[in-house]
Amino acid sequence: MIFIDACLKKPTPYTPVWMMRQAGRYLPQYMAVRKSVGGFLELCKDFRKASEVTIQPVEILGVDAAILFSDILVVPLEMGLDLEFVAGEGPKFKNPLKNLEDLKALSPEKAVKNLQYVYDTVALTRQNLSDDKALIGFCGSPWTVATYMIEGGTTKTYAICKKMAYSNPELLHEILRSVTEATKLYLENQIKNGVNAVQIFDSWASALEESAFFEFSWKYILEICDYLKAKFPQIPIIVFPKGISGYLDKISGNFDVFGVDWSTPIDLAAKKLGQKYTLQGNMEPTRLYDKNAIKQGVSQILEIMKNRPHIFNLGHGILPDIPVENAKYFINLVHEMSVGK
Ligand code: CP3
Repeated sequence: MIFIDACLKKPTPYTPVWMMRQAGRYLPQYMAVRKSVGGFLELCKDFRKASEVTIQPVEILGVDAAILFSDILVVPLEMGLDLEFVAGEGPKFKNPLKNLEDLKALSPEKAVKNLQYVYDTVALTRQNLSDDKALIGFCGSPWTVATYMIEGGTTKTYAICKKMAYSNPELLHEILRSVTEATKLYLENQIKNGVNAVQIFDSWASALEESAFFEFSWKYILEICDYLKAKFPQIPIIVFPKGISGYLDKISGNFDVFGVDWSTPIDLAAKKLGQKYTLQGNMEPTRLYDKNAIKQGVSQILEIMKNRPHIFNLGHGILPDIPVENAKYFINLVHEMSVGK
């Protein structure tokens, strides 16, 4: 698999490419399947349909890897926290965590068992996906997942969880430990059922100042990496802490690929990290609205990453109103322009 070769810094005939959020609303075929089951969470829980939409972008766009169709928030959902996806508003937890009693009512062990529908999606997808395409499993970082469990949904300020970080750090650490325990076993089961690599999404890393990032987020990401590498040294791990370009110097650990977000210049990441890790990224996602912008973005990034281990991706998720034709154009262009680079 060319994607796995790139993760492991082996030479590849062209640069492999996939897109974060590649299975989703910009694809009419996804909308049709989602409608047939009722809603987003219903789709995550229906392993046959979830597997179908996992494979859609591989067949429609020709990306080099499929990413498991699910969500980072199924972990707290199955720990026992009531989750709803409200159209146009995103995820909502009815009873966000306020204290230790709330946390004690949740069960990481139960979550790991209840997530069987995800393991079934993985197994079926690996069975149906062509042998040269990788299947990527994933989870949220404990910090990013905890922001939703504490705030109850998406937040602009992170006021409640950051207040907890400073006024009751023990409670925040208890929550993070609990999510970390569930996540280690959850990813272990994804691997046992057939994923070829895993990505840890730390979408809200940049909500924290430097010292708090290392204390409340990075530390738990590294714990997950160490756990998985001790058991599955051959499975590549991708980390994606978004918006931390100010302290790339201090980033190292037991992972293979560093996901570069669009706000971090990829030449800076290459200078700081490019010898040790494969870099993944990082075209600005809204370039996908315009073909000239795509061409310019792809050629700039390929030029910088020439002769370095690289997986092409967007610098964050694809937006729901991107024309499919432009997404196809992007994937083809990366393949064509990177031959022999
Ligand atoms: O294609 C893929 O990348 C695989 C599937 C995937 C989803 N969510 C499906 C989804 C992955 C990897 C995620 C990760 C995820 N989920 C993250 C981390 C990545 C990132 O984008 O930063 C986060 C923060 C979440 C939490 C989440 N899920 C939010 C905030 C939302 C609402 C925002 C939105 O885009 O609607 C979701 C919903 C969600 N997750 C959708 C999909 C396809 C949209 C649901 C729908 O209407 O069909």
